Amino acid sequence: MATQPTVYVTRRIPDAGIDRLEEKYNVHVWEEKTPPSKDHIIETLADIEAEGLLCLLSDEIDGEVMDASPNLKVISTFSVGYDHIDMDDAADRDLPVGHTPGVLSETTADFAWSLLMTTARRTVEGQDYVLDGKWETWGPKLLTGPDVHHATLGVIGLGNIGTEVARRAGGFDMDVLYSDVEPNEASESELADVGVDAEYVDQDELLAESDFISLHVPLLDATHHLIGESEFQQMKEEAILINTSRGPVIDPEAMDTALENDWITRVGLDVTEPEPLPADHELTRHIPEQLVVTPHIASASIQTRNKMARMAADNLSAGLEGEPLPNSARKD
Ligand code: DGY
Repeated sequence: MATQPTVYVTRRIPDAGIDRLEEKYNVHVWEEKTPPSKDHIIETLADIEAEGLLCLLSDEIDGEVMDASPNLKVISTFSVGYDHIDMDDAADRDLPVGHTPGVLSETTADFAWSLLMTTARRTVEGQDYVLDGKWETWGPKLLTGPDVHHATLGVIGLGNIGTEVARRAGGFDMDVLYSDVEPNEASESELADVGVDAEYVDQDELLAESDFISLHVPLLDATHHLIGESEFQQMKEEAILINTSRGPVIDPEAMDTALENDWITRVGLDVTEPEPLPADHELTRHIPEQLVVTPHIASASIQTRNKMARMAADNLSAGLEGEPLPNSARKD
């Protein structure tokens, strides 16, 4: 009987994915809550002569990792973002890389909205107020925040997730601006069909005109610290900034300065630099009045995580069978 291919999975993903893999492969799973070190990934891939690697966004995957097992045929990440994988190294080795686009767009957009509503209407502060025993009476000016309806939403990056965020703005009768490397006519027309008129503007105009700014760009050299001091200074004092993309899209020192000096009103983050954000990091002193932070959970609905697990397993299987990946991250 032929031996089954061996695969390494760097964390216990939902059973929907693991079960699929276990039917056909010899599956080794890293069972800890925190990620294996890069050295450990290298050692494990070498020890088990892995043919497949299923990784997470918290694993650094570069040429050294790719060369650890002589049999490695495919890498599949349990994420849509693949900034943790050196794509040039993968291309040099002609190694297929799979990711999970599409299935998490709506879930992530829902969460961007939840951060937007939370930061605008100060729900975290409200809960702390109750728990701190400060709630003595109804207050005419207690924890007031800006209206969301009829405000202007600026979406930076009108890809799959940005489009879903813009779509949801229709329910709040918002004006929607977006900036991107180029106009996205397909998304504009999809949004127009549901009554959302998304206007393409340059980033400077978006920063100056928006009441709420939501970031939806991938992390690339061109988007690293896309939002720095000068961008914060272009925003309205009332502006609220939401980031569910990648932490390093915002320069954390510039954010600290902007909040310290009230250049903008509030920030809602699901992603941070560094990530995880230590509880004693300088930025946390702005919590909760000016900053709300959640631990990178925007795609964490039960249904979506199951879909991501199945998709990541299917990408891995296709690579092991020598077939084209259903969702390849390689653009070359
Ligand atoms: C991704 O998939 O890249 C998200 O950041 C986590 O779901």
